[in-house]
Formats: sequence, C-alpha cells, structure tokens
Amino acid sequence: MNIFKDGLLKGKRILVTGGGTGLGEVMAEAYAKLGAGVYICGRRASVLDETAKKISDATGAKVKGIACDIRVAEAVEDMIAQIWVDGGALTGLVNNAAGNFISRTKDLSPRGFNAIADIVFRGSFYVTLACGKRWIEAGDKASVISILTTWIWNGGPFTVPSAMSKAGLNIMTKSLATEWGPNGIRLNAIAPGPFPTKGAWERLNPKASNRGETSSTIPMGRVGEMPELANLAVFLMSDGCDYLTGQTIALDGAMHLASGGNFAAMSALGDEDWERIRGEIRSANDKDKAQRAV
Ligand code: HXC
Ligand code: NAP
Repeated sequence: MNIFKDGLLKGKRILVTGGGTGLGEVMAEAYAKLGAGVYICGRRASVLDETAKKISDATGAKVKGIACDIRVAEAVEDMIAQIWVDGGALTGLVNNAAGNFISRTKDLSPRGFNAIADIVFRGSFYVTLACGKRWIEAGDKASVISILTTWIWNGGPFTVPSAMSKAGLNIMTKSLATEWGPNGIRLNAIAPGPFPTKGAWERLNPKASNRGETSSTIPMGRVGEMPELANLAVFLMSDGCDYLTGQTIALDGAMHLASGGNFAAMSALGDEDWERIRGEIRSANDKDKAQRAV
C-alpha cells in the first residue's frame, strides 16, 4: 500500500548498497517511485543492470547500477566519486549490502569470519565514511539508514560474524548520530525480522525443516511483507522526520521479544545436519559467484 504522496522524494539522490536484489531492490524501487534518483551497487554487474532497467522502466526514474565490491575501500571511494560527478551529492545512503550463512561457530575459519565481517562491518563503514566526509565538507544535510537484524539486542547463535558486525553498525549509528548531528546528518537503522528473500533463505533457511515453521514463532503470525519494509525506509529518508536520529527500529512482528528471533533452536542439530546445511549453502554461493567479475 502506498501511504506517501507522489513526488515525496523529488530531488533526493539515494545510494542503496546491495540494491540489485532482495530488500535492497524493494527499497530502491520505493525511492524511485516517489521521485528520487537512485544508485544501486553490488558485485554482479548483470544483476544490477537488470534491476536498474526494471525499476526505471516501471517508475520512469533515473536508476543506475554500479558494480562495486564494498570490501575494497579504494573501489568504494571510486564509486562515490563517480556518483558525485554524475549529478552532485547524494542526499541519502542505505547500508543494505551483506553476507551471511549459518554455521556452528566452532566450524568457522578466520577466512569464514572475514567473509562476513569484511562486507557488513568494514564495507558499510567505508561507504558511510566516503559519503560523510563529502557531506561535512560541503555542509550538506543527509540521511543514512543501515539494515541490521534483531540479533544486535540478544545475540545471533550460529550467525556470530553477522551478529557481531551488525552490532558494530548499530553502535556506528548511535555514535555518528551524535558526532555528525551538528552537520545535519541523520543516521538511523532498521532491524527486520524474517522477510523471505532468495539471498537470505538460501543461506539461512536452506530447508524450512532445519529450524521449524517460522511464522509460528512470530506473534503477528506471519513473516514481513516487502511494502512494510519499504514504507519505513521511505519514512526514514524523508524530510518529515528531520528530528529523528540515532534510532534502530525493529520491524519483526514482535518476534525477537517473544521467541528470540534468532537460530537458538538449531542447537538440536547434529554433525550430519550441519554437513548437509553447509553443502546446501555452498551450492547457493557457487551459483552467485559465477556471476561476479572477480
Ligand atoms: C562455514 C563457510 C560457509 C559455511 C563459506 N564459508 N560458507 N564456513 N560454513 N556455510 C567459508 C569458506 O569455507 C571460506 O573459508 C570463507 O567462508 C570464504 O568463502 P567464499 O565462498 O570464498 O566467500 P565469498 O566468495 O567471499 O562469499 C561471501 C559469502 C557469500 C558471505 C560467503 O555467502 C556471499 O557472497 N553472500 C552475499 C549474499 C548473502 O549472503 N545474502 C544473505 C544476507 S541475509 P576457508 O577458510 O574455508 O577458505 C542476512 C540476515 C538475514 O544477512 C536475517 C534473517 C532473519
Ligand atoms: P540479498 O538479496 O542476498 O542481499 C544482499 C545484497 O548485498 C546482494 O545484492 C549482494 O549483491 C550485495 N553484496 C554482498 N556482498 C557485497 C559486496 N562485497 N559488495 C557489494 N555488494 C554486496 O539478501 P536480503 O535478504 O535482501 O538482505 C538485505 C539486507 O537485509 C542485509 O543487510 C541483511 O542482513 C538484511 N536482513 C535481511 C533479512 C531477511 O529476512 N531477508 C532479515 C534481517 C536483515 P552481490 O552478491 O551481487 O554483491
């Protein structure tokens, strides 16, 4: 349901990292529909091109895909410089790109930990910094939204690198809301509960039977619907909430309050289950990897 007036985001220029798929695509489309110019980035150029075309055909807005691996600080700096040259300063950033998989922590290697932390913890910081220093230099107002998880409040068993990294972004949100508040830069975050996307489900819920029926553990009795996430992401990006900063809003039908909202129930799984799950995640990763340039 569209609850906003047409043209609400006219004149806004927003980068959604990981905007080629899943929740990022949904937010990018919502911004474009309301008149914003939108940039999306990710590692798979073909996925970005397809999504950018789909959104601009549907909305008439300018939507541009830029292939960029946010783990590489220099590549992030190049992308942000390219965007500023392309049409001026961004007015908004959504830190949405992420990597994740379920695994017993004892089975992780240092490389496995870094595969997640380099995207979520470091990469999101690189993008925020590259934008923030330009905004401060020019005296521009801006809004940053980071997409977290409810695990930042109660921990993420079996997703520890993600939980640690998202918790870091939560404290970045609060720290910079204060440090950059005097510059007119707002930072807020959304902690979604389960919103079924291909990327998340292949790596976190490869077989529904691994963790039981999700909706029975959610007080609202269902998973999230994409427009609900998009509406909150639009609200946080709009000028109507200029005094709102430093906040992290859960959007999970009260799941984390009622049942933890994490993978605690997977303690019941044994070695064979984990072997199978790892294989299922590996085949999802390999398919996506084949679409990346490097
Ligand atoms: C243990 C694993 C593993 C697994 C990979 N590794 N999968 N370890 N269990 N299932 C280890 C590998 O063995 C390797 O370490 C290291 O991680 C790097 O593996 P690569 O395959 O080379 O990683 P890379 O190509 O960098 O891929 C990154 C990725 C991949 C994170 C692993 O999944 C990815 O690109 N994901 C992007 C999309 C995504 O994850 N979307 C989901 C977001 S959902 P060794 O030591 O063996 O070399 C989300 C929250 C949802 O974030 C919340 C829902 C409620
Ligand atoms: P998704 O479709 O897999 O989205 C992840 C996106 O990040 C992909 O487009 C991916 O594109 C991009 N990405 C990954 N690594 C990158 C890198 N190094 N550089 C640039 N881009 C990179 O999964 P999703 O479910 O929509 O997740 C989106 C966000 O929501 C994530 O932050 C996730 O943690 C959060 N979240 C999701 C749920 C859920 O239920 N779906 C719940 C809570 C939180 P490439 O692979 O092409 O790079």
